[in-house]
Amino acid sequence: MVISFVTGIFLALGQHFLYRSLNHKAYDSEDKKARVVLYGRALAYSCKVAFGGCVILCYRQRIWRTFRERALSVFTIDQLFLATEDPSLFLNWETITKATIVTAMALVLWVIPIATIVLSPAALTFGDFLELGTNNVGVPTLNFTAESFKDWRKRMVMPDGSTKKSLTYWNTTDRDAKTPGWYDYYDQPSADLKRIALMAAYNLKNQTLNRDDARIKSCGGDFNCTYAISFVAPGYNCVEIATGSNDDQKLHEAGAPFDTSALVPRGQNVYLASVDNGDYQRPQPAEFLSNQGGVPSGYIPDDFGFFKSEPVLWIGYSTNSTEPLPDDSPFRQNWTHRFDPHVFSCTHYETNYTVTFNYSGPFFTTHVSSEFLSPVVDTNFSRFDNGTINYNDPGPASNFLTPHLDVPKYKKVAAYHAMGKYLRDFLRGSMELVPPSPVGPSYAKVYSDITITKLVSNSTNEPLDDLPKRVQGLYTDMILSLFSAPQLLVVSEERMDVKTSKYKSTFMYTAPKLWACYIPVIFFVFVILLFGAFTIWEDGTTFGVGFSRIMVTTRNTTLDEISRGACLGNDPFPVELMQTRLKFGVLNEGGHELEYMGIEGSGVGHCAFGVPSELSPIHRGVRYAGLQRRSEGVKKMKED
Ligand SMILES: *[C@@H]1O[C@H](CO)[C@@H](O)[C@H](O)[C@H]1NC(C)=O
Ligand SMILES: *[C@@H]1O[C@H](CO)[C@@H](O)[C@H](O)[C@H]1NC(C)=O
Ligand SMILES: *[C@@H]1O[C@H](CO)[C@@H](O)[C@H](O)[C@H]1NC(C)=O
Ligand SMILES: *[C@@H]1O[C@H](CO)[C@@H](O)[C@H](O)[C@H]1NC(C)=O
Ligand SMILES: *[C@@H]1O[C@H](CO)[C@@H](O)[C@H](O)[C@H]1NC(C)=O
Ligand SMILES: *[C@@H]1O[C@H](CO)[C@@H](O)[C@H](O)[C@H]1NC(C)=O
Ligand SMILES: *[C@@H]1O[C@H](CO)[C@@H](O)[C@H](O)[C@H]1NC(C)=O
Ligand SMILES: *[C@@H]1O[C@H](CO)[C@@H](O)[C@H](O)[C@H]1NC(C)=O
Ligand SMILES: *[C@@H]1O[C@H](CO)[C@@H](O)[C@H](O)[C@H]1NC(C)=O
Repeated sequence: MVISFVTGIFLALGQHFLYRSLNHKAYDSEDKKARVVLYGRALAYSCKVAFGGCVILCYRQRIWRTFRERALSVFTIDQLFLATEDPSLFLNWETITKATIVTAMALVLWVIPIATIVLSPAALTFGDFLELGTNNVGVPTLNFTAESFKDWRKRMVMPDGSTKKSLTYWNTTDRDAKTPGWYDYYDQPSADLKRIALMAAYNLKNQTLNRDDARIKSCGGDFNCTYAISFVAPGYNCVEIATGSNDDQKLHEAGAPFDTSALVPRGQNVYLASVDNGDYQRPQPAEFLSNQGGVPSGYIPDDFGFFKSEPVLWIGYSTNSTEPLPDDSPFRQNWTHRFDPHVFSCTHYETNYTVTFNYSGPFFTTHVSSEFLSPVVDTNFSRFDNGTINYNDPGPASNFLTPHLDVPKYKKVAAYHAMGKYLRDFLRGSMELVPPSPVGPSYAKVYSDITITKLVSNSTNEPLDDLPKRVQGLYTDMILSLFSAPQLLVVSEERMDVKTSKYKSTFMYTAPKLWACYIPVIFFVFVILLFGAFTIWEDGTTFGVGFSRIMVTTRNTTLDEISRGACLGNDPFPVELMQTRLKFGVLNEGGHELEYMGIEGSGVGHCAFGVPSELSPIHRGVRYAGLQRRSEGVKKMKED
C-alpha cells in the first residue's frame, strides 16, 4: 500500500517536471511534439495505476470488516467484490447505507482516472508565448561628425563596392589641393540629401522613411524590438512670439520682418514665411568663379565662403477659430468668423536627440525627445538707427565659421545648413485667403510648397493648428528619414542591447492546473491509506479477495443447503439466493461452547460466511483453527 502510494507521488512529480521542462519550448517537428505529449500521458496513466493500486488494497482490507459487521444480501456482497470493475454499486441503496465507507472508497477509485488520465494532461497546452530577451546588435545611428573629416577628393569605398555619400557638395580654391592656403568652401546640399528631403516632405504617413529590412537589421533577426539611441543633429527651436494682434510690439522688438497686420483678418495672408534673411550666398561674391569647382579669381573678399549667419525662420499663420464674429466687429465687412493670427520664429540649433524606436510587426514608431545645445551659427544681426534689422551686418565676427580655420566644424555646420535648406525650401512663401464677403467665394491662393507637406489641413488647405510643433516635427522626420539611406556618411552604427520580443508557438504548462488534479487525489488516497493501515492493525491480519479466499471462507454446510440448485455460477442467479443475507464471522459448529475452548492445536471453530444466526464475531488475536481438523489420511484419500 505504502509503496504504491509513494510511487504515485513520484510519478505525479515526474509528470510535473516533464511538463515544466517543456514549458515555453518550441518543437519544429510534429513527431517530436506528439511524442513528448505521449510521455506525459503515460506518466498520468502510471500514476493512476499506482494510486488505484493503493486504494484497491485498502478497499479489499476494509470490505471484510464490513462483511463481519453487517449482514448483507448476496447481491450486495457480489457488488462489493466487483466494485473495481462494476460501478453499479453506486446505485444500490444497500451498499450506500450499510457499506458507506467502502462505497466511498470505491467512488474514489472510480474518480482517480478522471483526475489523473483525463484532466491532468490538460495542464500542458500549446499556445503563443511572448518571449522577451535582449540582443546585442549594431543599430543605425547618426554621426554628423563624420562629415567633418570627409574630403570630396577621396572616395570612401565600402566593402560591397558602394561609396559613402556626403550630405553636401563642395567648391574649392584649388582642385589639386596643392597651393599653400587652399581650402574648400560649401556649395550646396547633395543630390542624396535632396532625394531624402523631398521624399520625407511628400510622405504623409505616420512613419518616417526607413529601409525595408530595418526591423530585421536593428533587432538582430525576426523579432520585435525597442531601443533608444541618442545623437547630435540639427534641429529647429521654434518659439511662438505673437498670439493675436496685440503682440505686434513684441514682434518689432524681436526683429520680425513682418507683424500680424500681414495676416488675416487684417491682411490677406493666412500663411506667411520669411526664411532666407542672412542666408549663405550662392554664388559667393567673387569677381569670377571657374566652372571647374568654383575656383575664385580676380577680386576675392575676405569673408569668402564664410557662414556668417544662419537664417531664422519667421512664420505667421492664422487659424479659423470657427466662432462667428460679433456684428460690431471691424472685420465683419469681409469675414464671417474670427481668425487668430500667430507668429513664431525658429532658430537652427545643434540638438541632442534621444529617439526611442519601437519596431512592432510591419510598423515602427519613434518617440523623440530633444535638447537644444547651441545655435548652429551663433550670431545676431545689428540694427539701423530707425530700428530695422541690417541683414548685411551679423556679429560678433568671432563666431563666423571660416572655411580655412576650423575645417571640421565648418564642414559639420555645412551639413547642418544643407539639412535646414530643404526644410526652408518647403516653408518659403505665402498663402492668401480671399475673404468670403462682400463677394465670395472664399478660397486660398497658394505661393508656397508647404501645401505638399503634412503641415496643412487635408480639408481646407490652410495651415494646421500648433504649427511650431509641427514644423519642428517635420524637420525631425526629415532627419530620421536619413536612416533610409545607409550609404550616407552620417548614418553610422552603434552596438547596443536592444529589447526584443517574439511570439513563439510553444508548450504552455500551467502547474496549478496539474496540482488541482493531483492534490485532491493524493489527499484522499493518503486518508484511505491511513484508514487501511489502521484497519490492518485492528484486524491483526490482511485480507484478500482471490478465489482461494472465497473458497476457504465459504466452507459452511448452511451455504451448501442454501445454494442447492445453483452450482454452475450461471447468470442469472436465483433471485431468492441473491436476497439471502450473509455475514462473515465465527461459525458456531456444534454449539457455543466450542468457541471458548481455545485448546492449542485442536481448533476452536472456524470463520466463514453464513447466516447471521449461526455466527459470532471474530476477535483479534484468537487462534481460529478452521474446520475441525481431519487426519492427513482422510484428506489424502479424498484428493485421490
Ligand atoms: C563620429 O565619427 C567620428 C569621425 O568618424 C568619430 O571620431 C566619432 O567617434 C564618431 N562618434 C560617435 C559617437 O560614434
Ligand atoms: C560653386 O561653383 C559653381 C561653378 O562655378 C557655381 O555655379 C556655384 O555658384 C559655386 N557655389 C558657390 C556657393 O559659390
Ligand atoms: C471658418 O470656419 C467656419 C466654421 O467651420 C466656416 O463656416 C467658415 O467658412 C470658415 N471661414 C473661412 C474663411 O473659411
Ligand atoms: C474687404 O475686402 C475688400 C475687397 O476685397 C477690400 O477692399 C477691403 O479693404 C477689405 N476690408 C477690410 C476691413 O479688410
Ligand atoms: C511598441 O509598440 C507596440 C504596438 O504599438 C506596443 O504594443 C508596445 O507596448 C510598444 N512597446 C513599448 C516598449 O513602448
Ligand atoms: C543673439 O540674440 C539672442 C536673443 O536676443 C541672445 O540670447 C543671444 O545671446 C545673442 N547672441 C549673440 C552671439 O550675441
Ligand atoms: C531704416 O534705415 C535704413 C538705412 O538707413 C533704410 O534703408 C530703411 O528703409 C529704413 N527703414 C524704415 C522703415 O524707415
Ligand atoms: C485628415 O486630417 C485629419 C486630422 O489630422 C485626420 O484625422 C484624417 O484622417 C485625415 N484624412 C485623410 C483622408 O487623410
Ligand atoms: C510583432 O508585433 C506584432 C504586433 O503586436 C505582431 O503581430 C507580430 O507577430 C510580432 N512579431 C513577432 C516576430 O513576434
